[in-house]
Amino acid sequence: MDERMKKVRQAVEHELVCSAHSMAHVWRVYRLCLKLAEKETNVDVEVLELASLLHDIARVREDTDDTGMTDHAVLGAAMAEPILRDAGYPEATIRDVCSCIETHRFRGDAVPVTIEAKLLFDADKIDSLGAVGIARAYILAAGYGEAMYSDENVADYVARNHVGGTATGRIRVLGEHTPNLEFEIAFKRIPDRLFTPQARAIATDRLVVMEAFFDRLKAELDGQA
Ligand SMILES: [Fe+2]
Ligand SMILES: [Fe+2]
Repeated sequence: MDERMKKVRQAVEHELVCSAHSMAHVWRVYRLCLKLAEKETNVDVEVLELASLLHDIARVREDTDDTGMTDHAVLGAAMAEPILRDAGYPEATIRDVCSCIETHRFRGDAVPVTIEAKLLFDADKIDSLGAVGIARAYILAAGYGEAMYSDENVADYVARNHVGGTATGRIRVLGEHTPNLEFEIAFKRIPDRLFTPQARAIATDRLVVMEAFFDRLKAELDGQA
């Protein structure tokens, strides 16, 4: 990592200082991006590294905005621009990195166009799956006071606790959500949304791990194991 990139890393660490969880996620996404890039040609690795480092820089600001109006992808790109300029990166690099950040969000309207943006999107989603995904889901669940497991029918639950009664609608009462419901509603759909075949293969493998975990959890809770 050269001096310019170290400056960028410090800026991200400063923003995410109260969130060790976010910074650990940033490094996992950074490593996943580089792994996915091995199977691609014509990737600008510098743009990919910078975009993965900076992609969630506005995450804490979105989470602490009670109005719910902050979109961390849009704000993150705006925050990244002066940081990259201060660090001395050329305008073309700044533009490409910001475009990756703007389009990394699962629920966002902006769609990744460049290969670097697609790899960032894919790596970011993969990090919510597998053993890491289970651990992350339960860390979040603890914060919201969620139960360990819900037996509720998924369609009934979505109709009851999602705005508009649709899977993509916002959750009304966070404490009534559970990791296994999130798995059924959101995580299982991730492979279909990914851009690269290598990311889809990793995601599909990670879903197998999650499915086995939730099956076993249910069996134990039911006294069957
Ligand atoms: Fe994000
Ligand atoms: Fe992220």
